[in-house]
Amino acid sequence: MAIASRTVMEGSPVALSVRPRSDFVETPSVQELTERALAYLEAGFPVHFQGPSGTGKTTLALHVAAQLKRPVILIAGDDEFSTSDLVGGQHGYRYRKVVDQYIHTVLKYEEDSVQRWVDQRLTTACREGFTLVYDEFTRSKPEANNVLLAVLEEKMLALPATNQGEDTYLRVHPEFRAIFTSNPQEYAGIHDAQDALSDRLVTINLDYYERETEIAITVARSSMPAEQATLSVDIVRDFRASGEYDQIPTLRACIMIARVAAMQGLSISVDEPRFVAICMDVLGSKTAFTSQGRERYNTQKEMLLRLIKHYCSS
Ligand SMILES: Nc1ncnc2c1ncn2[C@@H]1O[C@H](COP(=O)(O)OP(=O)(O)OP(=O)(O)O)[C@@H](O)[C@H]1O
Ligand SMILES: [Mg+2]
Repeated sequence: MAIASRTVMEGSPVALSVRPRSDFVETPSVQELTERALAYLEAGFPVHFQGPSGTGKTTLALHVAAQLKRPVILIAGDDEFSTSDLVGGQHGYRYRKVVDQYIHTVLKYEEDSVQRWVDQRLTTACREGFTLVYDEFTRSKPEANNVLLAVLEEKMLALPATNQGEDTYLRVHPEFRAIFTSNPQEYAGIHDAQDALSDRLVTINLDYYERETEIAITVARSSMPAEQATLSVDIVRDFRASGEYDQIPTLRACIMIARVAAMQGLSISVDEPRFVAICMDVLGSKTAFTSQGRERYNTQKEMLLRLIKHYCSS
């Protein structure tokens, strides 16, 4: 087995220097999740945050990655990915026109197809000992992700055969760490993670944060005073609990309602029609214009008005 010494060519991916974001909210429950993940990563095991949309997986993955104080390489899973999109490949083709200075009629074309190896993000992370954040990794086909099996277990990255037909392996840097995220509920465009890969990851299941954390995040991401942000969060949480939605309302809905209302200087009141309209737009039916959808829209509207009246009557 040859151990790789391929030259890293221009065009290789650049790592992000991820600093903890200033509006990241760290309540005790977020801190507990962070510490749990760091304990696994420090012991050399990859971590996988799994949970429905809007539960804070990507934000938490980047936050945990920042704690490791190494450059971060971010990959977003994609159905079109092949192994070479993760690992790299041979690229390069040169084309040159030569005009003879003395004999003007002589024109020469030169083509040069010397192939140069260009690292893709997984290879860079393994070579340099960076932290890999592989967001929504189940959107990529299992065949593309197979290359990760040996990276995570044998700490070896198999590189495709060179022109000379020689397979090479890259020894994974000891500081390489990997954090994965996935959403098992996503209805379309995801693949089942193959058992062999799942078995190598420590999966931490994320659910919607508890009320205090949702309020703290909404305040941090909207600049709305806590007392008013609490009302928006309570409306969203009750609506979520009611089951009367088309699409489950997440933290993003809390942030959207609070940020727009705060920017517009609206009072959080059932008597403020613009606030009520924002709640309807953000939380209401996405299918209002089918006959079934209209009925559902009216039910949702009534329920939302009841909730807004309950929390926001003076
Ligand atoms: N701890 C936090 N501090 C500040 N903002 C947060 C925190 N956690 C989540 N958020 C915010 O909540 C929203 C949803 O978070 P995020 O995008 O991480 O969720 P997700 O689970 O990755 O969602 P999806 O599955 O749709 O990608 C984002 O706007 C994010 O900035
Ligand atoms: Mg995400």
